[in-house]
Amino acid sequence: MALQNKNILLGVTGGIAAYKSVELLRLLKKAGANVNVIMTDSAQKFVGKTTFEVLSENPVLSDLFFDTESSVKHIDLATSADAAIIAPATANSAAKLARGIADDALSTTLLAVTCPVMICPSMNTDMYQNIRVQRNLDILERDGWHILDPDSGVLACKTVGAGRLPDPDFIFDRVKAMLTKKDLKGKKILVSAGPTVEAIDPVRFVSNHSSGKMGYAVAGAAEKRGGQVTLVSGPVNLEPPVGVTCIDVETCEEMAVQMTANLDQADIIVKVAAVADYKPINPKTHKIKKKGDKKDIAISMGENPDILRLIGEKKTKNQFLVGFAAETDDLEKNALLKMKKKNLDMIAANLVGSPDSGFKADTNKVKLFFRDGSSFDIPLMGKDKVADILLDQIIARFNT
Ligand code: PMT
Repeated sequence: MALQNKNILLGVTGGIAAYKSVELLRLLKKAGANVNVIMTDSAQKFVGKTTFEVLSENPVLSDLFFDTESSVKHIDLATSADAAIIAPATANSAAKLARGIADDALSTTLLAVTCPVMICPSMNTDMYQNIRVQRNLDILERDGWHILDPDSGVLACKTVGAGRLPDPDFIFDRVKAMLTKKDLKGKKILVSAGPTVEAIDPVRFVSNHSSGKMGYAVAGAAEKRGGQVTLVSGPVNLEPPVGVTCIDVETCEEMAVQMTANLDQADIIVKVAAVADYKPINPKTHKIKKKGDKKDIAISMGENPDILRLIGEKKTKNQFLVGFAAETDDLEKNALLKMKKKNLDMIAANLVGSPDSGFKADTNKVKLFFRDGSSFDIPLMGKDKVADILLDQIIARFNT
């Protein structure tokens, strides 16, 4: 949503990583942005202009005097831009931008922008660490531009160290964060996500189908909105969202310990995790062997603590507590019951059992219920968008 219909200027300068900007452009377009690409002469030695023109569906600006139908095209682009990204940014381009030199289409246009700017330096490690380059990046940062630190690894010049352009996905994520309103600034958000896993023996366990996608989306969206986010996560196959403190747990007991340890500092608690209500009593320390006698075996299960209920009992009047309810039937009735029993300010009722909503899906459909009796429907959409709307609703109520 942060990028829908936004005018983005993508500056590409002459580095081997210029090819990664093609993928970045694709991600920006997919998110609904209108992208205008400006290339330096040396950038065109690495990737052709046509590639950017076809994918951006806009002419590429590279020469102030020959490329354009308008003599002030660069000013039009600068004034209409919602954000500018320079990826990759060479040492030379950073130097020119820091000193206000305007001797080509990119540096001239960037002198006229008033929107947020992100610089993604990418170069040889010694170059990157050079005091002059660092000084220029420091100037740009102090001027209010965002500097995205390069990754470390093996570079094209075979050096091992800092200087690699981060992956397009990562740059894209940070551009979204740059454009997101910081309405959670100064707030601490505690989120739980994923399943819990309860051992039967060293090989087998009891768990559920939670992929962690919904909880990770909430944590990532809260971080982009300026929140200080702690995510307590059961075992999932997801990268922790950028800028989020992630604490890995396995069992309900471990999740309870970590949620309780981080509870006092939290302003908003969102419990998305699918916690196992029961766990095997006395899990075996050795693998249970198959006897082959065709007889059933029984596993005795004991009740796990209800973490959300414990938090509901402890929460102060300044904390906002949100639960999720995964239901296969009687959605509203069951969700309202849980909200009352667990002393929640809000519950997200999640009908599960269909392939496009609930567990594992990339999309979700939920209905929010509030303590004051009101409700709010979030129709089927991507979990990222559901997370943002959920946070809109929390913030609107938390602030009152
Ligand atoms: O992870 P995904 O694949 O993206 O799927 C998302 C989801 C379906 C897991 C998520 O949207 C969801 O509905 N989460 C809640 C799942 C759940 O366990 O619901 P519940 O009705 O059993 O529990 C209600 C609430 O109590 C939940 O906030 C749960 O975290 C909490 N709880 C439950 C049991 C327990 N022992 N301790 C708890 O804290």
